[in-house]
Amino acid sequence: MKEIKRVPIKIGELEIENNIFMAPLAGITDAAFREIVTEMGSGLNFTEMVSAKGLYYKDKGTNRLLKISNRETTLGVQIFGNDPYIMSEVVKRYINENERVAMVDINMGCPAPKIVKNGEGSALMKDLSLAGEIIKAVVKASEKEVSVKFRLGWDENNINYIELGKIAEGNGVSMVTLHPRTRKAYYSGKADWEAIRQLKEVLTIPVIGNGDLNSCNDIENMFELTKCNGVSLARGALQNPFLFTRTNYSPTLREIIELIKKHYALKINLIGERVAIKEMRKHVAWYLKGQRNSNSLKNEINTLNDLDKIFEKLDLFLESSNEVENVNLFVN
Ligand SMILES: Cc1cc2nc3c(=O)[nH]c(=O)nc-3n(C[C@H](O)[C@H](O)[C@H](O)COP(=O)(O)O)c2cc1C
Repeated sequence: MKEIKRVPIKIGELEIENNIFMAPLAGITDAAFREIVTEMGSGLNFTEMVSAKGLYYKDKGTNRLLKISNRETTLGVQIFGNDPYIMSEVVKRYINENERVAMVDINMGCPAPKIVKNGEGSALMKDLSLAGEIIKAVVKASEKEVSVKFRLGWDENNINYIELGKIAEGNGVSMVTLHPRTRKAYYSGKADWEAIRQLKEVLTIPVIGNGDLNSCNDIENMFELTKCNGVSLARGALQNPFLFTRTNYSPTLREIIELIKKHYALKINLIGERVAIKEMRKHVAWYLKGQRNSNSLKNEINTLNDLDKIFEKLDLFLESSNEVENVNLFVN
């Protein structure tokens, strides 16, 4: 088992305490979840991808995605879109003035059909000249540091992450994050960490590695192999946000249950009990993934709408478990 190397990182003028970040995840990295990972020790978090058009036209649902908690520390807002003017206006209106926001990240990686069909997200990797215009406009408008998150390219025959990385750096971006899969690969198959190493070799701005980071070993291996300046965890942190805490740490079931309860409380505070209870179902499933006999608990929680009953079930599960002490689930 290896040591996770946590070092401070400078992104443009911004100094961040440690270089282990939480990636943006749609429907997941809201203020409640970000508070959890902040407390665990992530150095930088991102909002989920927020539609620039939605903000520009003052859509209420979109605006809600910008809710920030007082207890968060370093936050990047991730925007997506394909119109340089709209994206730069949104930065001026919503980001420059907001003291709680440290940076703005441009999404050039989302593979979802409804995004791609509008020429947004990873579709921008098919039009690097427009991608460049967007980057230029956002950097010009922004008083905060700007980063870009992208993939390898559209598909295996159109790999252009090196080119896009150079365009980003050449236009004043302060950091890039590479999710080394193609748009075609979506979220499946193995992330190509070698590509992170190659990008790191040609850029001078910080390169953040992302993809398939599910354990302390993975994190350390990525640092070793790619020499990246930082890493951003995604799906791995949903099951195990304790990855941010310390090396080799495996939470007890008691700690996991406590974390679940805390997450409920934060979500309720953010969006109210009724919706929070529904949204927490997927988190409970992630947190309890791999825990012995947890399937029936998860099924029950999926049908309950009463917080007291849910907490009662969680307590009962803990009491009936023989493995209250270290379950060592996350060690590999
Ligand atoms: C449910 C889900 C939602 C995601 N939402 C976003 C998003 O809003 N913005 C973004 O840049 N990437 C998003 N991603 C991609 C992740 O940030 C990350 O790049 C990807 O999952 C690869 O890391 P992993 O293999 O460790 O999960 C999402 C991924 C998943 C699975």
